[in-house]
Amino acid sequence: MVIFALKNSALEAIERAQNLAELETSYKAYLGKKGELTLILRSLANLNEAERKVQGKEANDLRNLLEKRFAERKKEIQREEIVIQEKLAIREHVDVTAPGKRLPKGHTHPLTLAQTKAEEIFQTMGFTVAQGPEIETEWYNFDALNIPANHPARDMWDTFWLKPKNAGHLLRTHTSPVQIRYMEKHNPPLRIIAPGRIFRYEATDASHEFNFYQLEGLMVGKEVSVANFKAIIEEFYRQFFGKPVAIRLRPSYFPFTEPSFEVDMRWNKGAWLEMMGAGIVHPNVFRAVGYIPAEWRGFAFGMGLDRLAMMKYQIPDIRLLYSGDLRFLQQF
Ligand code: PHE
Repeated sequence: MVIFALKNSALEAIERAQNLAELETSYKAYLGKKGELTLILRSLANLNEAERKVQGKEANDLRNLLEKRFAERKKEIQREEIVIQEKLAIREHVDVTAPGKRLPKGHTHPLTLAQTKAEEIFQTMGFTVAQGPEIETEWYNFDALNIPANHPARDMWDTFWLKPKNAGHLLRTHTSPVQIRYMEKHNPPLRIIAPGRIFRYEATDASHEFNFYQLEGLMVGKEVSVANFKAIIEEFYRQFFGKPVAIRLRPSYFPFTEPSFEVDMRWNKGAWLEMMGAGIVHPNVFRAVGYIPAEWRGFAFGMGLDRLAMMKYQIPDIRLLYSGDLRFLQQF
């Protein structure tokens, strides 16, 4: 009777066990050193021979049965655990049919937008995009542009000289050196623009940065005039801002152009804003690159790309363009 009850409860416990630890606990409860069945087996010694024979067989049969069932259940649980592991592993596999996760997409910086737009417009008017280095020599940045050493005109550009200063290397203060580099390698007639970063040793405020972008322009031909320049710049603005824009030329001074002027643009029928320096290429500049001044005429201009972008996108402070502030950048 005792054995029969023990058998049922033990088999039940084996089925109930959900993992190896639970199974082990049940095993100990029946077949461990102090397990219920172990105690019965030990107590057989106290019985008389006839009883021992009957009960001994029953107890031993039960022990064999339980050992077998425990072993089977153990294997079952181990198999179940492997299946669970496999299911987990499968969950980490790439499901190529699953819908993708949307990655945040970057976009072009407003200065780059303005530069690309400007390049497109000038290219439709026959201009090639040229480039030059940001670290320049004194020759390209100054001398070849008719600004000799010790000439007071050098003070127009607050300059970052690289050490040692007598090596004559500097961060270019304007994109005009690209004019020289290009003319050295190409014969006229020519039309180029040269967008790029420039550097000025000066304090920053809402409209000044110590580095910013210029877009240089140069057109050289047999009969290039100020009228050509005006027409091209007006057409550029018309396309860049998407509407006709009034401009005016004011006399100015640059060592590499003669005559020189500033170009102002009228913004929304309000104030005149200074947009660029420009002029007719100085004969000494042609001489510096080996052109014969009497044969060629050209105009050159250097406009602030930052100012263009600021007006197009209504940006109030130039420093925003260099802040890397996503709250600003994500608006474009
Ligand atoms: N390089 C001049 C500046 O940085 C601008 C300029 C370019 C003026 C070409 C005339 C002709 O101020």
